[in-house]
Amino acid sequence: MSAPRLALDPARIRELFDLRRNPLGGGFEQDPYPAWHRLRESGPLHAGTAGRLIGFEGPESFFGLPEPERPHFSAFDFGTCDAIVRSREVFRMSPPDPGGDRSLHQLSMLTMDGERHRRYRELVQPSFNPARMPWWAENWIRPTVGALIDSFESNGRADLNVEFCAAIPLLTICGSFGISVEDALDVRAAVSGGGQGEGVARFMEILRPIVEARRSEPRDDLISVLARAELREEGETHVLSDADILSFSFLLLSAGSGTTWKQMGITLVAMLERPEWIEAARRDPAVLEAIVEESARWAPTDPVFGRYSWKDVTLHGIDIPAGSVVHPCYGAANRDPARWERPDEFDPRRRSRANLAFGRGAHVCLGKNLARMEIVTAIAALIERLPGLRLDPGAEPPRIIGLYERGPTAVPVVWG
Ligand code: HEM
Repeated sequence: MSAPRLALDPARIRELFDLRRNPLGGGFEQDPYPAWHRLRESGPLHAGTAGRLIGFEGPESFFGLPEPERPHFSAFDFGTCDAIVRSREVFRMSPPDPGGDRSLHQLSMLTMDGERHRRYRELVQPSFNPARMPWWAENWIRPTVGALIDSFESNGRADLNVEFCAAIPLLTICGSFGISVEDALDVRAAVSGGGQGEGVARFMEILRPIVEARRSEPRDDLISVLARAELREEGETHVLSDADILSFSFLLLSAGSGTTWKQMGITLVAMLERPEWIEAARRDPAVLEAIVEESARWAPTDPVFGRYSWKDVTLHGIDIPAGSVVHPCYGAANRDPARWERPDEFDPRRRSRANLAFGRGAHVCLGKNLARMEIVTAIAALIERLPGLRLDPGAEPPRIIGLYERGPTAVPVVWG
């Protein structure tokens, strides 16, 4: 595939992606890990949210938040978080008592459970399996990475966070939906709004004609997979309705464009602060895979998720009424000293053990292979094409900020 024309408006991409402007916890600058350690030491489960329990007073919005009418509980050790996400009966993605209008997000498979969730997920799962990764790399990831580096290579400096990291997953997932580079930022703006408000109208305006076109003339892309997918329900087989396709697309475009860029930034910062890992990856590109795995364990970009309790249960001596939200804190679980030695240290040499950065169980991240592929491909190309890549000594050093969505303030680099 030829290199895409990268006409992303720099001011708009900064406005949409700069974490410092994120109203939902972006301004949270404290390192949450010491406080999450202290909470875990006093008990694996606590009443309250993972944010309020460590003094965050801003607006809370993420899966199962804010929902002030429900009781909230948070878990901080690996064993409890793992048990919560693997539970299929007691803790689920949908509330036992749904009410009110449901956004596009809330209608997607992310909030389905059991057999229905399995049936929807298996429609797209094959496109995200390891065997399909070369398809993603050749069609969308490599052309985007190459064109982006071309656009700034001669400058000798860049803020990789928004100029590079933010653009790659956005253009990859949009490319796989047949969405043009020109419309990509409108799609990002719409999905950042959570599936409600005026962005949804623009989202529909962009997606509808593509879905129609692919229904009659499929191409080799992900939206064609959805447009042609057949669902078997109650003994009958039917193609997905427009509403199903739109909520599916919303979930994939939102999860695909909103997570990987922050994890890529976190990985780059970890490497730039420890240049021996840039050297190690230059000598042996296979090392990058271990680096990405360790970055996800050490500082997962989305460190807290949620589940609804369907029964009254007692966990670690704490009563959790049905209808409560229980938040497994994946970030804290990934640094549980009962599972990892020196858990606060970034050490890609450590023995690999399953962690919760991509969740686990039935809802384990659908895009985990794609995310790893995007990060590895992008960083490998940077290292190869920009010799002497290092943090810009004249710029403010990057900091990892945010609460429910974590990532770097900036990734200012120079090379040559
Ligand atoms: C580094 C990047 C990423 C991280 C850290 C991440 C993290 C996660 C986590 C933790 C979950 C499980 C949520 C839970 O337990 O409640 C999840 C689910 C999901 N992710 Fe990702 N994700 C990433 C990238 C992606 C990408 C690139 C895509 C798609 C293009 C994607 C699509 C999804 C979907 C569709 C689900 C819901 C799966 C289901 O309900 O069965 N993610 N992700």
